[in-house]
Amino acid sequence: MKKNINIAFDGPAACGKSTAAKAAAKALGFLYVDTGAMYRAVAWLSIQRGIDSSDAESLASLAENNPVTLIPDWTISKGYRVVIDGNDITSEITSKEVNSIVSAVAAVSGVRRVLAGQQRDMAAEGGIVMAGRDITTVVMPDAELKIYLDASVDVRARRRYLEEKELGRDVSLDEIKKRLEQRDRIDSERTDSPLMVAHDAVVINSDDMTPVDVLNEVVRLAGERALR
Ligand code: CDP
Repeated sequence: MKKNINIAFDGPAACGKSTAAKAAAKALGFLYVDTGAMYRAVAWLSIQRGIDSSDAESLASLAENNPVTLIPDWTISKGYRVVIDGNDITSEITSKEVNSIVSAVAAVSGVRRVLAGQQRDMAAEGGIVMAGRDITTVVMPDAELKIYLDASVDVRARRRYLEEKELGRDVSLDEIKKRLEQRDRIDSERTDSPLMVAHDAVVINSDDMTPVDVLNEVVRLAGERALR
């Protein structure tokens, strides 16, 4: 029997999933799993190995042979460290290079099969908050609480712009908006596990909400589900 409920989050790029999922996990004492970090880790390793993002077969065996480890760590802002093939790549996974190929890598069915399998295993015992693009629809369709977190592209671009600035990166708001739209398009139009709203997901639009507002709503909904 599961020892606790599971919470699944999906939503477009930079919609605030990571912030909301991380805060909810912290508040509830659950384990936070950012599945985007796993796709990013495989994308990072493919760059190191010189594998082209159109080489589906090599990407699938790369994912199969190099499991990604997420190590919970509340002392850093992400809430976890990312290790693949013996490398701690916690900061590298959000680089421009990774951003530009991650959605192509994530569109490869062989890569998705491997990572989704690992994610299902993590969720088996409950007490997990998992965020991604196919968590409510494919990885944990039975999660007790499913949330589709949305926000307009302008709000998302501004939030990501401020995050990048904070990291000291030289970025332009227009460029970020263009890249988010490009990633959303690939993520929603791919044939395997496209980003979509699950029929039984609660949709939260965070345009006019602070991170605390979103957290309060998620914790309220989690409490409601735990009582069912
Ligand atoms: O944080 P951000 O919204 O920028 O993206 P992310 O959650 O780190 O995910 C990076 C990319 O990985 C997405 O654009 C998707 O292409 C892919 N991804 C996916 O296909 N399935 C998931 N469950 C999670 C991420």
